[in-house]
Amino acid sequence: MERREIEQLVRTHMKQKLEAEGKREYIIAANWKMNMSAKETRSFLKELSDTNIPEYLNIILFPPFPYLPAAQKMLRYEAVTYGAQDVAEKDKGAYTGEVSAAMLADCGCSYTLTGHSERRAYYGETSDIVARKASKALEYGIVPVICIGETLEERRSGAYKEVLKGQIDAAEKVCQEKLAQCIIAYEPVWAIGTGVIPTTKEIGETHRYIHDVLASYDKHAGPEFRILYGGSVNENNVRDIAPVPFVDGFLIGGASLKVESFKNIIKLLSLDGCL
Ligand code: PGA
Repeated sequence: MERREIEQLVRTHMKQKLEAEGKREYIIAANWKMNMSAKETRSFLKELSDTNIPEYLNIILFPPFPYLPAAQKMLRYEAVTYGAQDVAEKDKGAYTGEVSAAMLADCGCSYTLTGHSERRAYYGETSDIVARKASKALEYGIVPVICIGETLEERRSGAYKEVLKGQIDAAEKVCQEKLAQCIIAYEPVWAIGTGVIPTTKEIGETHRYIHDVLASYDKHAGPEFRILYGGSVNENNVRDIAPVPFVDGFLIGGASLKVESFKNIIKLLSLDGCL
């Protein structure tokens, strides 16, 4: 059996166990973007592997592509999983620079980000491209974390709900009933890397809205959608946001680059009564 299959079995078992105890899985995902060296990656992974992590926390690292084999080699799969920051929408062939879902599966990835706002803004990824990437990942047994979010203008003008719905609708059109297997990461563009963060009330309202949109596709009635919050999450605000309804975890950029601060976030979310 491959590592990825074992990892998925372990997570399914843990999820069932948690559900039986009336608890839920909570995701803490680290988006390293184009940061870290091989040496820094190894020492981060080593330190994280030695950390005590409660079983209801699902820690997912998203290192740059070249460091995926290090994650495959060094992580204890029952505690920390990992994935890629992007995936190709095609299976294989003459697509210079692209990395396919099959290749990610070979590297033991259980997850991949799709449609991060930086990819949408700098590399012209439309919601349709993002949807096709997510669908391709699913085809290879990889869970896509579909990133959505509005700009500051869209938030201020009140158009943000339509924007978010458009991004989710595009994914639903392609993934259909498999959308329930995806994770949604809500990341307001204006909160990414800025230190500016929505109020917990705004986060709560937006996550409820996203949940309602997901639940409105009647052919997927009943599934448990997972919605992460991302954008300027750090040690100082994580405890305030964690208990907000429909927040199933975090996607963390800057604060995930230093192992001390990432471990601190894990520690804060491990404290009794936090979630
Ligand atoms: P940030 O990034 O935590 O540095 O704001 C989050 C993200 O872009 O995923």
